[in-house]
Amino acid sequence: MSWWQIVILTVAVLALLVAMHDLSQKRHALLRNFPIVGHFRYLLERVGPELRQYIVTGNNEELPFSRDHRRWVYASAKGENAYFGFGTDNRMDESGYPFFHHSAFPIDGDADEPVPSLKVLGEWRDRADAFRPASIINISAMSFGSLSSAAIQALNRGAGLAGCMHNTGEGGISTHHRHGGDLVFQIGTGYFGARDGDGRFSIDTMLASMEGTPTRAIEVKLSQGAKPGLGGLLPGSKVTKEIANARGVPVGVTVRSPARHQEFGDIAGLVDFVERIADAAGVPVGIKSAVGDPHFWSELADEMQRRDMGPDFITVDGGEGGTGAAPLLFADHVALPFHDAFGVAYRAFDTASIAEQVTFIGSGKLGFPAPAALALAAGADMINVGREAMLAVGCIQAQKCHTGHCPTGVATQNARLVRGLDPTDKSVRTAGYVGALRHDLRALAYAMGHDHPAKITPDQITIR
Ligand SMILES: Cc1cc2nc3c(=O)[nH]c(=O)nc-3n(C[C@H](O)[C@H](O)[C@H](O)COP(=O)(O)O)c2cc1C
Repeated sequence: MSWWQIVILTVAVLALLVAMHDLSQKRHALLRNFPIVGHFRYLLERVGPELRQYIVTGNNEELPFSRDHRRWVYASAKGENAYFGFGTDNRMDESGYPFFHHSAFPIDGDADEPVPSLKVLGEWRDRADAFRPASIINISAMSFGSLSSAAIQALNRGAGLAGCMHNTGEGGISTHHRHGGDLVFQIGTGYFGARDGDGRFSIDTMLASMEGTPTRAIEVKLSQGAKPGLGGLLPGSKVTKEIANARGVPVGVTVRSPARHQEFGDIAGLVDFVERIADAAGVPVGIKSAVGDPHFWSELADEMQRRDMGPDFITVDGGEGGTGAAPLLFADHVALPFHDAFGVAYRAFDTASIAEQVTFIGSGKLGFPAPAALALAAGADMINVGREAMLAVGCIQAQKCHTGHCPTGVATQNARLVRGLDPTDKSVRTAGYVGALRHDLRALAYAMGHDHPAKITPDQITIR
């Protein structure tokens, strides 16, 4: 028999075996009805997102981040030419499209100057370690566990290079968080890194976790925009020795984050909890929350105004925010999107005349110059960037965070995939991206006649 006859025979035998399997199995009606060819449908379904991303979709089509947006992050991160040629390809006549009013007499300044916060974090409440954040752009909470060791290292090192802060996420402080970046230690409902053997909050464990780390602030997480009001499970298979160490839980045992804090059950209790932590740690303490029930915000502002105490900063996360994994219902429909959310929260503090006492941080697709500037104009003092920072360390928006198979090693614990991500190279990209965002914000402020982007006012913006 010649070689091609062998090939044809082999293909024919394989096809026969596949057809027999397809006809006899009962799971897929499609394969029973269309043996062999039915497999192409599954193949195309699997590679469809990639094909659409590379071949079919336009520059402004994809969500959550369009190709233009991703290209801007990639190019800025690499220090490459991030300009766009030939003029805008956006539809400027679409409703909701924002236009910033440039000044006839712009400031001719150096946009590479640092952009520190205008407010001093913790100053109002005389926290021992109050400080002025050196950067209004900081890295949002994403835990070691949802992100890989290499990604956390890259972000932390990058934060150090960029002079910004790196929020630990609710998974505690790991060894990968100790590469030079200042930390915001996030404490979620699982109290990871701050819990005793029974899973209850422990101030001693919290202080022990912070020992020797550059923790500048603590954030008590009430909720995040992508899945507010939900608890979560970290399956035992994912609780490796390293993750267990950072979280203060046993190796290989499934751990649960409850839907709510066990340490307090009302607004007065929340304020007391914040004060208890701040007294013990000395650093500014804030809360992070998505916005649902509007009464929570007015009652919190009234309580803080009446007692003259409470969170030093408030991170408002929009419903469009990211997550490692969430049910579609919660990701799509629970919690207000950033601009509505921020309006509700900020107005409550403004009405109680205490907005100046609190540093407001915004997150939820704000890691690009225009959305960040809009948030600053609405009253935010600083911006947290989550998925945009993931893009800077190599994320390609494969949207596989929940499967453990992230192809770029960013949101996975699979050692083979993590190997591909070089933390040193990607730390430079993190810093490049953060620096570019700050630069563009300062350049916009100068064009509008201000020396700081947080001075842009809503009446300098037209929204179609
Ligand atoms: C992979 C991943 C993990 C996250 N983990 C946390 C977390 O531990 N705690 C938290 O408060 N938010 C978490 N978030 C939400 C982000 O901190 C941020 O609030 C949200 O993604 C909106 O910002 P972005 O649009 O810039 O990504 C996570 C988001 C992602 C994508």
